[in-house]
Amino acid sequence: MVKGRFDVPPALPRGRYAVIGDVDGATARSLGAELNPTALLLALDEERVRKSEYEVTCIGQANRQAMAGHVAARDAFLSGAAELDVQLAYLKASRQRESHVPYGNIIGINAHAGVLHYQHYDATPPAKQQSLLVDAGHRYRGYCSDITRTWAGEQADALIPALIEGVTQVQQQLIATLRPGVDYVALHKRMHDLLADLLVEHRIVLGSPESAVANGITRAFCPHGLGHLLGIQVHDVAGRHAADGVALPPPGEHPALRLTRELEAGMVVTIEPGLYVIPMLLDPLREGSVSREVNWERVERLAPHGGIRIEDNVLVTTDAAKNLTPEAE
Ligand code: GLY
Ligand code: MN
Ligand code: MN
Repeated sequence: MVKGRFDVPPALPRGRYAVIGDVDGATARSLGAELNPTALLLALDEERVRKSEYEVTCIGQANRQAMAGHVAARDAFLSGAAELDVQLAYLKASRQRESHVPYGNIIGINAHAGVLHYQHYDATPPAKQQSLLVDAGHRYRGYCSDITRTWAGEQADALIPALIEGVTQVQQQLIATLRPGVDYVALHKRMHDLLADLLVEHRIVLGSPESAVANGITRAFCPHGLGHLLGIQVHDVAGRHAADGVALPPPGEHPALRLTRELEAGMVVTIEPGLYVIPMLLDPLREGSVSREVNWERVERLAPHGGIRIEDNVLVTTDAAKNLTPEAE
């Protein structure tokens, strides 16, 4: 009988050992080792938080290839393609097969853009060309990009190009403030303040920006977090722990936030504000006094376009932010 590789413990020098992986405790015990010790896993995760120059170069290359896909996806949409054709155009231009993408591409035309993890690819072109949301990346030598773009179609409501520009400005304003020492939770809350301003500016919200934030209106329009750490994993490790391993759970009002620590030089983060018409979240606001603060006629105009998200990948340096996501040409 051929013995399995753990049947005979290797002759190791005296010391403390750990087995890391998805194995049973007996394997670890047979080696006199601890299985997945928490302190060690936290320490190893922490080593991945600040990226080396090599890692940043890989994420940069993953960004360039993904952006080639985003440009092709936009052009396919504007020439009348179905979601499936947009997906194929993305894969072709970004030079990757579907089984190699770092996460399932989100390709949402019109109302599908408001389905946050939409994974269907409609094979029939839409009757009207209103909007396209693509959230898609690339993996280069194991390192991911994670980019979202939203495009207005020829038959988009006039509000849509203005809101795409507005969400882009919100994103750029947030990126400009990235520095070591900035608290990402505070940045996420700042996103809500800026989204509230945008909603008021376009008369989608009729009350004050402060009230829109306090009453949860901005959270109904944007239920996800501002972003996350990025690396070998799209949602990279250690986003909710301080450097010493202490857990940093997200605030109760923002449970989806994946990054809750202070920024440090070498981190690569995503910045991905969004605005969506998600009936399940907005309908409860129709009841009660908050209803008066929402311009429902404008919400109905936006609904067939689903939603908007703009997502870039940004390196925090000692004194600034370096956007690794190139402009769409
Ligand atoms: N594409 C996954 C995310 O944006 O977090
Ligand atoms: Mn992301
Ligand atoms: Mn994404």
